[in-house]
Amino acid sequence: AALAGVVEYRNVTFAYPGAESPVLSNISFTARPGQTIAIIGSTGAGKTSLLSLLPRLYDPAEGQVLLDGVPVDRLDRAEITKRVALVPQRPYLFSGSIGHNLRFGKTEATDQELWDALRVAQGESFVREKKNGLDSRISQGGTNVSGGQRQRLCIARALVTKPRVYLFDDSFSALDVATDARLRAALKRTTSDATVIIVAQRISTITEADQILVLDNGRIVDRGTHEELLETSPTYQEIVES
Ligand code: GTP
Ligand code: MG
Repeated sequence: AALAGVVEYRNVTFAYPGAESPVLSNISFTARPGQTIAIIGSTGAGKTSLLSLLPRLYDPAEGQVLLDGVPVDRLDRAEITKRVALVPQRPYLFSGSIGHNLRFGKTEATDQELWDALRVAQGESFVREKKNGLDSRISQGGTNVSGGQRQRLCIARALVTKPRVYLFDDSFSALDVATDARLRAALKRTTSDATVIIVAQRISTITEADQILVLDNGRIVDRGTHEELLETSPTYQEIVES
C-alpha cells in the first residue's frame, strides 16, 4: 500500500522560526484513506500551521509527520506534491486563463479532466457562462472572480492533480450553505478512497466527519464525532453556540 495516503502526526510540536513559544504542542492523530478528519478551533488556534507541516512548508521542532509510514522529511518534495494537495486558506490565482490556473499542478491534464474537476467543485456553470470558457482570463490575484468562485477554482485545481490526500484550509467558508453542501457531497463521491482533512469555521461543514479534532491554543483538547463532542466537549459546545 505504498500509495495509500495514510497521514500520521506523532507528538508534533512546532514553533515558527525565531518565535519563542510553540504554536502546536504534542499533536497526534491519524487520518486514513476513505476518512474525513475535521479540524476546528478559534482563530489563531493553529489550524493552518498544522496543515502546513504535511507538505513541508515548515518542519516540526519535535515529533514526526508521516505519510504512508514514511517521515515526510525523508520524501522528496515532488513526491509529496504528487500525493498531497493543499487548498490554502487564501487561494492564489495568477494572471492567465482559467485552464492555465487549473493546470497549475498538472500541466498535461486534458480539458475533459478540467471540466470534470470543475463539475465536482461546483464551478462548471460559472466557467461555462464565460464567453471563452476555459480560455477566459483571470486577472492578477484573481480580482475578476468572486471569493467563492476563487475557492471553487482552487478546489478544482486540487482535484485535477488526483492526489491521495486533500487538505482543505477553510475552503468552504466563502460559499453559501447550499453550495457548500453540494460541493462536499460531490467531493465525497469522487474522493471516496482519498484521505481528506478539512479545516472549517462552520459546524455544518463538518458534522459528518469521521473524526473532529478540537484545537485550542495549539493543542488538541478534544476529539470525536459531532455527536460525541456535543456530549463531552465544552470547547466544542462553545463553538457550536457561537
Ligand atoms: P485562523 O485561520 O484565523 O482561523 O487561525 P489558525 O487556527 O489557522 O491559526 P494559524 O495556524 O494561522 O496561527 C497560529 C499561531 O501562529 C498564531 O498565533 C499566529 O499568529 C502564528 N503564526 C501564523 N503564521 C505565522 C508565521 O508565518 N510566523 C510566525 N512567527 N507566526 C505565525
Ligand atoms: Mg488559518
